[in-house]
Amino acid sequence: KETDTDVWLTVHAQPGETQILPGAKTKTWGYNQSLLGQTIVFHSGKTYHVTLKNSLPELTTFHWHGLDVPGPFIDGGCHAPVYPGETKEITFTVNQPAATTWLHAHPCPLTGWDVWHGLATMVYVKDQHEESLPLPHTYGVDDIPVVLQDRRFHKDNQWDYDADYDPDGTAGPTALINGTVNPSFDVTTQKLRLRFLDGSNRREWRLHLSDDLVMTQIASDGGLLPEPVQMTKFMITCAERAEFILDFAGYHDGDTVTLYSDETPILTFNIKGFATDETAVPDELATIVDQGDVDPNAPIHQVVLSGTDEEIAINGRKFGMMRIDDRQEIGKAEYWDITNTNDCCGGMLHPYHMHGGSFQIISRNGQAPYPNELGYKDTVSVNPGETVRIKMKFNFAGVFMYHCHIIEHEDGGMMAQMQVY
Ligand code: C2O
Ligand code: CU
Ligand code: CU
Repeated sequence: KETDTDVWLTVHAQPGETQILPGAKTKTWGYNQSLLGQTIVFHSGKTYHVTLKNSLPELTTFHWHGLDVPGPFIDGGCHAPVYPGETKEITFTVNQPAATTWLHAHPCPLTGWDVWHGLATMVYVKDQHEESLPLPHTYGVDDIPVVLQDRRFHKDNQWDYDADYDPDGTAGPTALINGTVNPSFDVTTQKLRLRFLDGSNRREWRLHLSDDLVMTQIASDGGLLPEPVQMTKFMITCAERAEFILDFAGYHDGDTVTLYSDETPILTFNIKGFATDETAVPDELATIVDQGDVDPNAPIHQVVLSGTDEEIAINGRKFGMMRIDDRQEIGKAEYWDITNTNDCCGGMLHPYHMHGGSFQIISRNGQAPYPNELGYKDTVSVNPGETVRIKMKFNFAGVFMYHCHIIEHEDGGMMAQMQVY
C-alpha cells in the first residue's frame, strides 16, 4: 500500500533453505525470503509503516543500522524483541540524506548467531538531490548491491555457527557475495556503481580490481562524500558501507575484470558491449552540514576499547542491559574519543558503531581523517593504539547502544548504552 506520503510494508524474518552450492541446500534465515532479503528502498520525507513478523523458532530484533529513527524500540537493538510467532508494527519518517544503510537482527547476545544464519539486508535511502546527480541509478543494471560475507560450509553444505564460533569474531574461508559463491556480473554500461556492505561477523575486506582499475568512492555510511575520492585499494570493516563508481572505458565485449579481497578473487565482471558514456562523476557530490559547534566546556565522552577474546571490554566493563554508561543531551553536538588500547599482543582493529544517528570523524590520533571519511559515518575502524575523535549529535531521545561491530565482540560485551535526554 502506498500514498504520496505513506508506505506500508512487511518484513518477515523466516527460516528457509537456499541453493548456494551444488548438492544439498543450506538451511538459512532471511527477510521475506530464505536468505538475506530484497533491498528495501526508502525515500527521505516519507513515513513508513513497517510490520515486523517473526516466524523463527526464537526471538529476534529488527535493527535499522544507519537510519536515524525515533528511539530504541524502532531502532530495534537489544530493547526491541519480537517473539516467535509475534507481529509488531512500527512507524517512522525517514528524514536523512540518500545513503546505503542496512537492516540486521540484533538480539543481545545472539546477534552473531542471527546474522550468520542470514538476517541482514540492504536498505537504501533515496532523496531528490542524489537522484538529480549524473550517477548510475538503475538497480541491478548499473547500480548494484554487494553484500560481503564469509562462511564455512560443513557436511551437506550446512553452516555451523557453534562449531565455527570464535570470541574474536566468527569467520569462514568462503566468500559469500549477496549470498552466492563465485558470482559473476554482466556489465552492460560503461559505468557501474557498487554499493558495498561489509555484512560479515568479523572480517575486514581489502578490495582491489584486476589491472589496478581505479575505484572512485562517492559515498560512505551516511551518504555522499563531499567530493569523490579515487583509489586502487580499499579496506572495508564490519558494518561499513561504501559506494564506488567503476569506469570500464577501454574494456571490450568479452573482457573480464576481477574483484579481489587480498589475493582471493570474489567477483567477476564480464564485460559486454556498452555505449560510450562521457558523463563525469561530479566534482562536488554533497554539502556536508556540520553537526554544530561543540560547547568548549562540554566533557569529551571517552570510549576505551580493550582486550581480545573473552577479555574484551569498554571502559573496563562488559555490557550491562540495566546500566546506562553515558548520557548526552538531544540536539547538541559533542565529541567522543574512541581509543583502541594496544596493551597486549598487538591488539586488533575494532569497527566502532553508534546507534542513534550519524557522526562526523574529526581526527585520528590528532591528524586529519582520510579524504573518504569526510562524509557522515556510523561505523569507524579504530586501529590498535589509535584514538579517533568523532562529533555526534542525536535527534531522538532514548537509550541507544554503542559497540564494536565485530559481532562476537558486541555479543561478548564490548558494548555499552547511552541515554539521550
Ligand atoms: Cu549494526 Cu548495534 O548494530
Ligand atoms: Cu546499528
Ligand atoms: Cu572489537
